[in-house]
Amino acid sequence: MAASIGDRSVVSTTPVLEAREVSVHFGGVRAVEGVTLRLEPGLIHGIIGPNGSGKSTLIGAITRLTPLTRGQLLFDGEPYQGIRPSAMAGLGVARTFQTVRLLPDLNVRDNIQLGADAEASAKTRPRPGWYQRLRPSVSPAVADAIRRTGLEGWEDYYPSELSYGTQRRVEIARAISMNPRLLLLDEPTAGMNQSERAEISRLLRDLRDEGLCQLLVEHDVQMMLDTCDYVFAMNFGELIAEGTPADVVQNPLVQEAYLGRKGRQHA
Ligand SMILES: Nc1ncnc2c1ncn2[C@@H]1O[C@H](COP(=O)(O)OP(=O)(O)OP(=O)(O)O)[C@@H](O)[C@H]1O
Ligand SMILES: [Mg+2]
Repeated sequence: MAASIGDRSVVSTTPVLEAREVSVHFGGVRAVEGVTLRLEPGLIHGIIGPNGSGKSTLIGAITRLTPLTRGQLLFDGEPYQGIRPSAMAGLGVARTFQTVRLLPDLNVRDNIQLGADAEASAKTRPRPGWYQRLRPSVSPAVADAIRRTGLEGWEDYYPSELSYGTQRRVEIARAISMNPRLLLLDEPTAGMNQSERAEISRLLRDLRDEGLCQLLVEHDVQMMLDTCDYVFAMNFGELIAEGTPADVVQNPLVQEAYLGRKGRQHA
């Protein structure tokens, strides 16, 4: 079956990822409630929603860092919610975090190399020490990720020496160096200026054109309009709209979610 999303036609086969009625509760807080979505190959999907609407929790659930209260997760049509978070690299799932998580004692090159190593060790299951001895000092995936994120010249710097925006680019480079099949990005351009955001948008679209399925969380509506093929909107843990970015931002429920947020409390 063929369908059209924006100006991209999608042959509807097995989605890369499917969430079925996924809920995550923290005590009385229904952070994610009954979310069903499909992430299709070769598309950039976005999630918008006010602060606290459940975007990061949903990414945590998909990447298995956050336990599900209910629901099912499928990758390539296979349920995977029983696996450990550390096994996600083996599935081909890479992510960046809303708060930068770089290792402070490693320079830029070595922080990025961690991503490539995670992918390699998931594939080869090396004995301790074997992989470190055999791999070249800078693997091609790392050199490529450094080039694509504009980090040439920063390789020997440590995270504390970098601006916040540059630290975020290192996180993106680390995720890309895993050569993932699904890339989840939680506010990757926070702390970046307009031209840096435009560069990241272009990078994500280039990766999309190479076939990489992505899920992007951003508050910058213009960035979402420029970058995403398909957008989900959340409010109070639930999906309230989905469709093309232009349609979703015009949706009355979405507009009300942003305008009507003030003063409302979680159950
Ligand atoms: N570990 C946790 N324990 C308890 N409550 C949590 C936890 N993580 C998130 N929450 C709550 O779940 C709800 C959803 O939070 P989440 O961080 O997923 O929202 P978000 O959409 O990512 O927000 P933002 O745009 O501010 O990043 C919020 O009410 C939050 O306080
Ligand atoms: Mg968040």
